[in-house]
Amino acid sequence: MNLNELSARLENKSAKLAVIGQGYVGLPVAALFADKGFDVLGVDVLPERVAKINKGLNPIEGKEPGLAELLKTVVTSGRLRATTDYNELADRDAFILAVETPVDDNHIPRYEALRAALSSLAGVMKDGALVIIESTIAPRTMHDLVLPLLEEKSGKKLNEGFYLGNCPERVMPGKLLKNLRTMSRVVGGMTPETSETMIALYKNIVEADLDPADCITAELVKTVENAYRDVQIAFANEVALVAEAAGGDVWKVRELVNKSPQRQMHLPGAGVGGHCIPKDPWLLAYGVNGRGVPLRLIPAARTINDSMPLHMVKLLESALATLNKPILDSRIAVLGYAYLEDSDDTRNSPTRSLVARLYELGAEPVIHDPWIAEYNGDVYERVKGCDAAVVMVAHSAYKELDLAKLKSALRLPVLVDGRRIFDSDLVNATGFKFYEVGKG
Ligand SMILES: NC(=O)c1ccc[n+]([C@@H]2O[C@H](COP(=O)([O-])OP(=O)(O)OC[C@H]3O[C@@H](n4cnc5c(N)ncnc54)[C@H](O)[C@@H]3O)[C@@H](O)[C@H]2O)c1
Repeated sequence: MNLNELSARLENKSAKLAVIGQGYVGLPVAALFADKGFDVLGVDVLPERVAKINKGLNPIEGKEPGLAELLKTVVTSGRLRATTDYNELADRDAFILAVETPVDDNHIPRYEALRAALSSLAGVMKDGALVIIESTIAPRTMHDLVLPLLEEKSGKKLNEGFYLGNCPERVMPGKLLKNLRTMSRVVGGMTPETSETMIALYKNIVEADLDPADCITAELVKTVENAYRDVQIAFANEVALVAEAAGGDVWKVRELVNKSPQRQMHLPGAGVGGHCIPKDPWLLAYGVNGRGVPLRLIPAARTINDSMPLHMVKLLESALATLNKPILDSRIAVLGYAYLEDSDDTRNSPTRSLVARLYELGAEPVIHDPWIAEYNGDVYERVKGCDAAVVMVAHSAYKELDLAKLKSALRLPVLVDGRRIFDSDLVNATGFKFYEVGKG
């Protein structure tokens, strides 16, 4: 099949699709295409996940508007089915890969999942198939890894035996379907014709601009946009530390700074987590590794953001010290373990660093999170007998906490807020020793 034939089959929805990786990205993508009338096969290496999807059950916890209902509809209608078996992919016309792409402790990309998925796919994909990488990858990965691997393992040649492109995602937990539908996308093809065919596919589910580009531009845009966000947050965090030390209030400072033209200071807080923001700047850096670019700002931003959970521990120590209580042997209620409000996603959660630091200092963390089975339950019961509470995540449930009840459950009236969810006047009036990020 050539690209014109494939485009026609994408237009009339007779093309058969497969989405490889059924996680936060792949599952909603598969469900949306199925909802638009395509026959979609979802592929994952996790049998439990596949079994759950085939029962029409949403494996993603947290507030994810519309996803559970959509999944049920498309699975019941037979348009979406999941499998662990790559042999079932032999009749598919287009493939979307959305497997994880983390970095290791030395900030080097770990492409095991991507390599494994490409190798398995290469063994079964039919002639003329379109392969699209949605995973976030370092600049040049399409040319240096994806293309040679596919050609070698399939024995097919690019633009003869298969077509290839990169179309990165702009989703985030809590807004998966919304962002997929409404965010514009960079559609990077190995050729302009491939980009056009990819646009014929994505226009079925995306209601915003689909911007054609080459693969290197697509890779750069994705990693740059997340590095940009990380740097902006790091700036806000550094200003928060400055405001604290100067006896100021970063929130007031931010509000007034943003009245100045072209200033859009981000929000400071207890740290940056998730699968993407903490690692995509490293993917960007890896893409130019050894090419003579002395990166300084992007790694510095990572260091600042990674230090914020440790700063939260310092705030806890200061708050406890006002009551002559050392951190050693204290019990600390840690509110929130996910990286994001009302999500179950714990990847690169800042809370993990905070908890590790508390153990190092001889304190005992007592974790609560309404969205994580291991840590959920009644929050007041969980904090009972703790010497202090620290808010790491702005879950809705914490915004509605009864402060008087929280104070009576705690052994000492010590509260530290890393997400500015409380009104400081109210907390102080309740009688707490109250510390916030960015307030001196
Ligand atoms: N999560 C987000 O908000 C988000 C946003 C934008 C971009 N991305 C990017 O999208 C990609 C996927 O992220 P995610 O959050 O969906 O990850 P995820 O871990 O939720 O999902 C990945 C899925 O791929 C499966 N998998 C791994 N190896 C496989 C293989 N060989 N064959 C089939 N399935 C395999 C895993 O079991 C998992 O279910 C990453 O590159 C990420 O950077 C994620």
